[in-house]
Amino acid sequence: MNIVLLGAPGAGKGTQAARMVEEFALPHISTGDIFRKAVADGTPLGLEAKRYMDAGELVPDEVTIGIVKERLAQPDCEAGFILDGFPRTVPQADALGTALASMGRALDAVVLVDVPSSALVARLTSRRQCRVCGRIYNTMGEMPAKADVCDSCGGEVYQRADDSVETVTNRLAVYEANTQPLIEYYRELGLLRTVDGDRDVDDVYADVAALLHSLS
Ligand code: AP5
Ligand code: MG
Ligand code: ZN
Repeated sequence: MNIVLLGAPGAGKGTQAARMVEEFALPHISTGDIFRKAVADGTPLGLEAKRYMDAGELVPDEVTIGIVKERLAQPDCEAGFILDGFPRTVPQADALGTALASMGRALDAVVLVDVPSSALVARLTSRRQCRVCGRIYNTMGEMPAKADVCDSCGGEVYQRADDSVETVTNRLAVYEANTQPLIEYYRELGLLRTVDGDRDVDDVYADVAALLHSLS
């Protein structure tokens, strides 16, 4: 199954992807996670990406597309993948279509996790995340049993640098300008499946899982 998770910052793409990985055993490819790891490792990619991420802007398409193409060529993607946070511009979507076609593959579905923008700022500014395994927490929802220590791996639970109110506001504007057009793009291709993401995480996941079962 070749799946794209589409949705605004804070819609719950990462949260849903974690559950999909457990049930469907597909690799989870989050461009945001790839960039954050590069930043933490201090690589040249990380140094470049950090400038954009800290401002809530998009990393240039050439950089991002190259990384995803390389990742999709890895053997663990042969049986399928969950793309989270990519594509988020029309050129990225075009490049993904071309890259998959050249491998004789295609997307099975683009799952839009739909959440009204009014809910997103609160979700993002209250998010916490494990630095090591990426597990997502929320001060208004589930938090680790021991303060700042991940329940899954013991890693440090921190607040993402781009989850400040100012950066979140810009990220939402960038989403509207650059990524929202992909909703129509994939609707026209007949690939769009919309899930109401403004509900309890379990209820959202029930719909996501039912949809994936209907594809397999
Ligand atoms: P990225 O890491 O992809 O961030 P994003 O798209 O802004 O999305 P988020 O990770 O913030 O939200 P999410 O939908 O995963 O929500 P989550 O599940 O965590 O990108 C970061 C940056 O990297 C970009 O700004 C850009 O600079 C760069 N970048 C990445 N990809 C790029 C690309 N393709 N091109 C160019 N640049 C790129 O949930 C959020 C919070 O809400 C959590 O606390 C969670 O617990 C809570 N929550 C989740 N579901 C629910 C629910 N149902 N009810 C209540 N709370 C919920
Ligand atoms: Mg995410
Ligand atoms: Zn962890």
